[in-house]
Amino acid sequence: MQLEATEIHVNYDHVRAVTGVSLSVGEGETVALIGANGAGKTTMLRAITGLTRPDSGEIRYEGHRLDTMAPNDIVRAGIAMVPEGRRVFPYMSVKDNLLIGAFARTDKNGVNATLEMVLGRFPRLKERYSQAAGTMSGGEQQMLVIGRALMAKPKLLLLDEPSLGIAPKLVQDIARSIVAINRDEKVSVLLVEQNSRMALRISHRAYALATGAVALEGASKELLQDDRVKRLYLGGEL
Ligand SMILES: Nc1ncnc2c1ncn2[C@@H]1O[C@H](COP(=O)(O)OP(=O)(O)OP(=O)(O)O)[C@@H](O)[C@H]1O
Ligand SMILES: [Mg+2]
Repeated sequence: MQLEATEIHVNYDHVRAVTGVSLSVGEGETVALIGANGAGKTTMLRAITGLTRPDSGEIRYEGHRLDTMAPNDIVRAGIAMVPEGRRVFPYMSVKDNLLIGAFARTDKNGVNATLEMVLGRFPRLKERYSQAAGTMSGGEQQMLVIGRALMAKPKLLLLDEPSLGIAPKLVQDIARSIVAINRDEKVSVLLVEQNSRMALRISHRAYALATGAVALEGASKELLQDDRVKRLYLGGEL
């Protein structure tokens, strides 16, 4: 497995946020992490990117220990995260927002090639290239932060609720882009979503978290048909 987290525990003071979660992402896979508010999804992503240290457990990426590595070294090792809440630099142009994502790279030609790739994947960003990022719609800003993460040329992309608060039509566009990034750019994806149906449709495997622990896991196709999943995670959604 490219990424392997084993028996992760994370406490915030008195809150037991994650209690013994094990999960993995294989090279080339899209893996979904679903679950209700407060289930521990963001905490798992923060543990993987070094922003929150696990109290116990082990995280390995391509054979190296991540849980002792500094966050910027984790980025350099090929892991990029798009955090919750799509934070763009509002007064900077789309172009400059994208270029910030490449801050750790020294291969200028490679950066230009990645920029072309991102603009090809997200034509809206190309149309709005010189526009101030803060004036774009929520869905467009989400495309921008995904594009910015891709500018680091990651091998593994972590996405925290990319569909939250976005118009359904743009959710479909973003879902399609995630599939294309995984398939065509060979980037593995760990996708956190409360839109479980979308996440299960576009992922190979999935984990459902409930109050800090893995409640269900398996192939996404099978989970979509599972009665417990239908009842607990798919009720009432589009
Ligand atoms: N900095 C913090 N200090 C204290 N408790 C925290 C902190 N961050 C998260 N928690 C708690 O840890 C638990 C897990 O939170 P987390 O943000 O990982 O959930 P989540 O699954 O991402 O939820 P959501 O879908 O609402 O984003 C929650 O009970 C939350 O209140
Ligand atoms: Mg969260």
